Amino acid sequence: MVGSVLLQRMAAEGDWVGVEPVFFSTSQAGQPAPDVGQGPSILQDAGDVAALKGLDIVVTCQGGAWTNEMYPKLRAAGWRGHWLDAASALRMADDAVIVLDPLNRAVMDAAFSAGCTTWVGGNCTVSLMLMGLGGLFQQGWVEWMTSMTYQAASGGGAKTMRELVAQMRAIGDDAARLLDSPASAALALDQQVTDTVRGSAFPTTNFGAPLAASVLPWIDTLQPDGATREEWKGHVEANKILGLNPEVPIDGICVRVGAMRSHAQALTIKLTRDVPLADIEAVIAATTPWTQLVPNDKAVSLAQLTPAAVSGTLTVPVGRVRKLRMGPQFLTAFTVGDQLLWGAAEPMRRTLRILREQLGA
Ligand code: HSE
Repeated sequence: MVGSVLLQRMAAEGDWVGVEPVFFSTSQAGQPAPDVGQGPSILQDAGDVAALKGLDIVVTCQGGAWTNEMYPKLRAAGWRGHWLDAASALRMADDAVIVLDPLNRAVMDAAFSAGCTTWVGGNCTVSLMLMGLGGLFQQGWVEWMTSMTYQAASGGGAKTMRELVAQMRAIGDDAARLLDSPASAALALDQQVTDTVRGSAFPTTNFGAPLAASVLPWIDTLQPDGATREEWKGHVEANKILGLNPEVPIDGICVRVGAMRSHAQALTIKLTRDVPLADIEAVIAATTPWTQLVPNDKAVSLAQLTPAAVSGTLTVPVGRVRKLRMGPQFLTAFTVGDQLLWGAAEPMRRTLRILREQLGA
C-alpha cells in the first residue's frame, strides 16, 4: 500500500522524469510491471542479487523480512548503491539515517557527505508527530513528552483496512432494522451492536478483536519494559531523527482506532521553561510548510483537526494547544496526519529526489 501511494505521489510530482525504473516483485516476477509513462516492462525477481546489483538506488516498500534477507546479500556482493527503505528493519542501525527532510535535512546532508548510503523512512506516528511538533524540540523547549495515539487501520496494512470496513458493514447490516425504526430505543440498538461485535461471525482475523465500535490498546509486540514496540519507537526514532543529545524522553500508549488512514495523537509536553503560549504557537506554525496551527475553537477543530478532514492530504494540523492546569510548563496539543503520506510515502519520495540531486542524476 505504501508502494502504491509512493507511485501515485511520484507521478503527481513528475518524479519519473530522468529515472530509469526497474520494478521487482517477490511473488509476481515475469508479470507486467506498473507503467509509469515509460512503456511496458516486466517485473523482475526481487531475490535476484545480480539484477539488483546493477542499480544506483534501491527503493523498497516490501517490508522488513525482505530487507533482512536481501540487504546483507547485496552489500556482501559489493553493491555500494543507495538503499531507501520504508521498513523498520534497518532504522536503528548506526550507519542508517531516518529520513524526514523537513525536520532533519541537515542531518541527511551531513550523512551523505560522510558517505552514508542507507536511508530509512521513520515510523508513521513518529514522523507525523515531528511534522507537527518538531519545532518545539528544535527550540530545546521539550523536557519530556507523552504521546497517546489514535492510530488508523491502514497502519496494519491493506487487509486491516478492509477488515475495519467489513466490521462496520456487519454492524450496520445487523442494526439496520432498529436504526430504521425511529421508535426503537437507543439501548436496544446498543445491545444489537454489542451482540454483533461479540458474535462468532464478526470478522476479526487481522485485528484479533473488534475495532469498529471499539478501540484496541495494543500495537505491535511486547518489549521487556512493558511498552509495545510501537511505543518504544516513539522515543528512539524521534531522538535519532532530530539527533537529540541528551535524549528527550518520549513515551505513551499506542492505540488502534477505527479511522481509515490518518493517525492522530494527543500530546502532553513538559516544557524546559515557562514559554509563552504565543511563542509556542508561532514555532508550531513555522515547523514545516505543511504544518497548520488550528485555533483552539470547536468549529475549526471539528472541521480541520480530524482524520476525516486530513486523509489524502499533506496537511498536518496541530490544535487544542493550551497550557494544562498542572502548571505553566505543561502543554497539551492534538495533531493528525495521513499515515500513508507524511507517515510513509512522502519522506521516501522526497529522499529519492534529494539523493538524485546529490548524485547529479
Ligand atoms: N506501525 C504503524 C501502525 C504503521 O501500526 O500504525 C507503520 O509505521
